[in-house]
Amino acid sequence: MMNSFSRNASFNRRGLAGTISSPRAARKAWIFRPIHAFILFGAIITFLSAIGGGYVYVLPNLTQAFHGFNISTSSYDACNVFDGRWVEDDRYPLYNASECPFVERGFNCLGNGRADTDYLRWRWKPDKCEIPFLDVQSALVKLRDKRVVFVGDSMSRTQWESLTCLLMSGVEDKTSVYEVNGNKITKRIRFLGVRFSSFNFTVEFYRSVYLVQHGWTPKHAPKRVRSALKLDELDSISSEWVDSDVLIFNSGQWWVPGKLFDTGCYFQVGGSLKLGLSIPGAFRTALDTWASWVNSNINANRTTVFFRTFEPSHWRDNNFRFCNVTKYPISETEGRDRSIFTDTILEVAKNMVVPVNVLQITSMSAFRKDAHVGYWSDSPSVPDCSHWCLPGVPDIWNEIVLSNVFTTNTYQT
Ligand SMILES: *[C@@H]1O[C@H](CO)[C@@H](O)[C@H](O)[C@H]1NC(C)=O
Ligand SMILES: *[C@@H]1O[C@H](CO)[C@@H](O)[C@H](O)[C@H]1NC(C)=O
Ligand SMILES: *[C@@H]1O[C@H](CO)[C@@H](O)[C@H](O)[C@H]1NC(C)=O
Ligand SMILES: *[C@@H]1O[C@H](CO)[C@@H](O)[C@H](O)[C@H]1NC(C)=O
Ligand SMILES: *[C@@H]1O[C@H](CO)[C@@H](O)[C@H](O)[C@H]1NC(C)=O
Repeated sequence: MMNSFSRNASFNRRGLAGTISSPRAARKAWIFRPIHAFILFGAIITFLSAIGGGYVYVLPNLTQAFHGFNISTSSYDACNVFDGRWVEDDRYPLYNASECPFVERGFNCLGNGRADTDYLRWRWKPDKCEIPFLDVQSALVKLRDKRVVFVGDSMSRTQWESLTCLLMSGVEDKTSVYEVNGNKITKRIRFLGVRFSSFNFTVEFYRSVYLVQHGWTPKHAPKRVRSALKLDELDSISSEWVDSDVLIFNSGQWWVPGKLFDTGCYFQVGGSLKLGLSIPGAFRTALDTWASWVNSNINANRTTVFFRTFEPSHWRDNNFRFCNVTKYPISETEGRDRSIFTDTILEVAKNMVVPVNVLQITSMSAFRKDAHVGYWSDSPSVPDCSHWCLPGVPDIWNEIVLSNVFTTNTYQT
């Protein structure tokens, strides 16, 4: 394995060196074409965002979506939990963010001055069944001796914060719940782990925004290349994810030109740069790498694997500068219920040996233009219509996870 990788790498490096030493004109043409492709690609991305992200792509097949989500056989045919609507329910919110030390300041909208509170009181109602209302005590007992691991970007961190607070609301001795290294939550921190010592379980978060390994520039790369995403290599911390009982992934928010090409980050496979590879193509390759890692490293008898689909944002423009958080959920998703990333996740998960529960939250979350951080963050001069207030939408994602994890028959029709 190692041998064949190095052999490939040196082979490809030789190939690249050959290109670099070719005559000037040829080199120019070689560099020009990819740049041209990126400009074109950028235009396409802008166009797609402009029309709401993805009408052009094949619509996700809802039946397939549900097949990816393996809940009990009895409810399996009866109910797609992701088909439904938001209904008001005064039992929400499930916790007070100002009293939970694991909500980062930027997501505590009420604490940051949001005055309207209707956004806190929405429950997701599937058309053909009910998600059981969270029973915190029973969840705590079921999680005894277990390890819950979130892997992904800040959206995973939010869901980690949400789950920690949901569970903590049922613990009397709050001092028995603590971050294992005494660390504070920051945007770049690689690992956070909260231990519920009375119940002997942890809820962990690993920051891995691309899931695959981000590395330095390969030798002889063109000047504009400052770093590379190794699409065929999972993140170096992935070994930490293995012995878990619940493993929840996400990725997608960082697969944009602004975070990649604009910062000099390009794609690499087997030691050679793939300068012409599109972002959706690269995402697919990375997810294939992820899938084979899961298939060969995860013991399906122990670990329940989830992949959360793309979390829709509600920006008013394409440059992430303006947005208006509404008071109530919107009645039309304006195309935000679909995403090329969601389609890719569904496609990859469908063909895996280890069953993966696809948390298809894109569509349900698309109605929640009222639930973003907006101007009630830790930097109120900059609006944020990507992240979600806590309590809020991520709590519902967690209720769906919890209702699935240690039960076989949870949905009553
Ligand atoms: C879902 O789980 C059941 C029982 O564990 C299994 O028979 C079925 O093949 C699974 N379906 C999918 C799509 O993984
Ligand atoms: C949340 O807790 C804070 C601090 O204890 C308190 O001031 C506030 O009133 C509480 N908010 C709600 C909605 O209960
Ligand atoms: C705590 O859980 C671990 C498994 O995660 C188990 O090996 C250990 O025995 C448990 N400790 C106690 C005191 O129950
Ligand atoms: C998982 O459980 C099945 C059935 O009990 C068993 O045949 C299989 O060997 C187990 N796999 C692993 C990796 O432990
Ligand atoms: C949306 O917010 C902008 C400022 O970002 C404001 O000028 C505009 O009036 C708002 N639109 C609505 C419909 O509230």
